[in-house]
Amino acid sequence: MSASAAPVPLTTRRSRNLRGTADIPGDKSVSHRALIFGAMAVGETVITGLLEGEDVLDTAKAMRALGATVTRDDDGTWRVQGVGTGGFAEPDSVIDCGNSGTGCRLIMGAVATHPFTTTFTGDASLCSRPMGRILDPLALFGTRSAGRSGGRLPLTLIGASDPVPVTYTLPVASAQVKSAVLLAGLNAPGITTVIEPEATRDHTERMLRGFGATLEIEDSAEGRIIRLHGQPELNPCSVAVPRDPSSAAFPVVAALLTEGSEIQIPGVSRNPTRDGLYRTLMEMGGDLSFTNEREEGGEPVADLTVRHSALRGVTVPPERAASMIDEFPILSVAAAFATGDTVMQGVGELRVKESDRIAAMEVGLQANGVKTASTPDRMTVTGSGGGVPGGATVATHLDHRIAMSFAVLGLATDAPVTVEDASPIATSFPDFQRLMRDLGAEIA
Ligand code: S3P
Repeated sequence: MSASAAPVPLTTRRSRNLRGTADIPGDKSVSHRALIFGAMAVGETVITGLLEGEDVLDTAKAMRALGATVTRDDDGTWRVQGVGTGGFAEPDSVIDCGNSGTGCRLIMGAVATHPFTTTFTGDASLCSRPMGRILDPLALFGTRSAGRSGGRLPLTLIGASDPVPVTYTLPVASAQVKSAVLLAGLNAPGITTVIEPEATRDHTERMLRGFGATLEIEDSAEGRIIRLHGQPELNPCSVAVPRDPSSAAFPVVAALLTEGSEIQIPGVSRNPTRDGLYRTLMEMGGDLSFTNEREEGGEPVADLTVRHSALRGVTVPPERAASMIDEFPILSVAAAFATGDTVMQGVGELRVKESDRIAAMEVGLQANGVKTASTPDRMTVTGSGGGVPGGATVATHLDHRIAMSFAVLGLATDAPVTVEDASPIATSFPDFQRLMRDLGAEIA
């Protein structure tokens, strides 16, 4: 997304009777990985259900810049002709990852053990985010880097020409860091080991196995130990991308908060490393029912029905944070209408997402008449148990999830809510407005 593009305001008004089926787009995490692993396999990977959001399209461009052939059929099927493990070529120019921390960090891992130089940049949001968490483990492989202060973009990686395998314990619960290390380990000899004290989303591990890599995963007292055998030949795959539970969260909370609503969401991911929001909403009294549980594209999925519900505040334990890290902004909107306090613990990582999401949500919620409080790693929302005034315009800070969260808030507040710039929504959920309108939401 271009930081210089004119802001696109979006206003939502109190709505009722949301009805119908919400066809949620493909999972962003799985989409990035399908393109990257496809580019590292030998032969043609075929991807259906790929999220065609700006973040993922930027990753597709990056894979082309590194030598893979990436094409889209008219029916939306994507094809990646991979170059094989260790087969990337030095890109001719800067890799621009736009707004995407995931794309950028995973690609850094993928090139880190190739003997060439890559320069990365992104939009104003991405250029403000910490990259030291990736550069530190990559340095253990022999990768060198030079970036702005705090390891921020733009930065240049000089890939290791003689990489060594590493053992790395994650200092933060981050699937991006875990994945960057595993991607770098693919082109290192021997066994690369990642230890994660808290489980994070496991799409990389699932997909690596699907592409034929050898991976051992062990649960131990230290946490999950993942051992990857380096320099495999990755086989091309057919990847059916499941629907994104983080995107589904917005219509789900909209239906919970608006009177008379009942919506269906088919094929939503039920991966246990991603389902913390759904568990939390059910604890709050949300009427969510999952049927037809099955496996699609190596991921557990189910059909979800959501009905308008009265909610009560809960305390979300810190060990659940990683499984719903992208869903706290929309949970804080649900919490604004619940009875009593909702306390979100262990959420310090929210401060280094596309924006400082604790600060962005607090400012916007307070402007709309909701009481909140925070510490560096905790946020509390005091629910009204009924009406919320609304009526304010909120800043979105180049953050898609902040924009969509406040758009949902305005569907249930007394007065309309305006988000000052809805354009970041295109990074992850380009069809958000049409989908919400089709369900009956007043959004314009
Ligand atoms: C992601 C990991 C999470 C999440 C992001 C997607 C991934 O980030 O917030 O939207 O696909 O690996 P962290 O690894 O920083 O927690």
